[in-house]
Amino acid sequence: MKQPAILLVTDRQDRSQCLIEAAQCIADCQVLAINQPWYLAAPVLGIIVDVRLEQPRTRSCLSWLAQQIGAHRPPAILVGCMPGVAAPGARPWGTAVSLATDAEPRTVVAALLRLLDPQASVADWIVRRGATRSANLLRAMFRSAEAGAVDLAAVEDGLEPVMNAIREGGLTHWLDVVWEHDDITFQHCLLVSGLVSAFAQSLGLSRADQLTMARAALVHDVGKARIPHAILNKPGKLDPDEMAVMRTHAVLGYDILRASGTCDPIALAVTRHHHEMLDGSGYPNGLSSEAVSDPIRLLTVCDIYAALIERRSYKASFSSDEAMRVLQNMVGKLDGALVQAFGIAVSSRNGCWSRLPPVSRTRDEGPADFGPAER
Ligand SMILES: [Fe+2]
Ligand SMILES: [Fe+2]
Repeated sequence: MKQPAILLVTDRQDRSQCLIEAAQCIADCQVLAINQPWYLAAPVLGIIVDVRLEQPRTRSCLSWLAQQIGAHRPPAILVGCMPGVAAPGARPWGTAVSLATDAEPRTVVAALLRLLDPQASVADWIVRRGATRSANLLRAMFRSAEAGAVDLAAVEDGLEPVMNAIREGGLTHWLDVVWEHDDITFQHCLLVSGLVSAFAQSLGLSRADQLTMARAALVHDVGKARIPHAILNKPGKLDPDEMAVMRTHAVLGYDILRASGTCDPIALAVTRHHHEMLDGSGYPNGLSSEAVSDPIRLLTVCDIYAALIERRSYKASFSSDEAMRVLQNMVGKLDGALVQAFGIAVSSRNGCWSRLPPVSRTRDEGPADFGPAER
């Protein structure tokens, strides 16, 4: 079922794009011009009516809209309606607020959000939006990767929401939402994506490099789509044969991405090599030192930290401090400077670790292979 969307009804082309961009930070946005044929692509979350009309036409526009919406009256923000006109015109709408003609797009969207949920902050909405969009794309990506190629263009749609969520809501906020996901593989990918985005932002990487790292994080474990569920979700310890199968996910993911068309070479390299260690003890190729590129090193630190703080049926979750100690003990296998910088990136966001999910049913092979959590 389609996610509810914000409906933007506008006759102001000069600023509709800015409003669309602001609205899309929190939901899909459908645009309707005044009096065009009525069509809703999704359930309506709320309505923004951005019109600058003379009084008689404002009244007719609002009554036309009220007719189309019918008995279902979602909260609405009316922008640009003349004072004293919007209020009577809006009466059939139920919950509606009128704003000045020159109200900033973000102010308009924030006002609508307050109508929808007075308790939630804008950051709440942005983080939820980011997690929902990313989880949806992961679901579609894993489903198609089970037997064939993946839609790499769809992956692009998941990058901005994650980066926005981390920038606007912070890592702690992101984790609060990510823990709610019951599919542990998706939860892991969302967690790594958030950690990578936060780390990249903390390092001051360019926007292009942040996008590159977010892309690599979202796809890095796509090969798990072809690992039998009995192994992926086994509640107990994997035997050597099962572990060997599990380890194939890195090359499987690489093959899936290569078969999917033109893929960013860094995403390809990270997917294949995110379990390599600097001392050559990793897999699948046993790369060492300079052969392990910076993007791989960065993601590997986030991947192992994520696996440590996640709860598994076969181990307790680590606190942030405990996980950082594990990473520090792995310097030599991991890049020491990156581990130190990662500690700084997450140090101000530790409040979330006490709210870890109560159950766990899966594994990630990172620390299981290389750290004290080895199984
Ligand atoms: Fe992996
Ligand atoms: Fe992973």
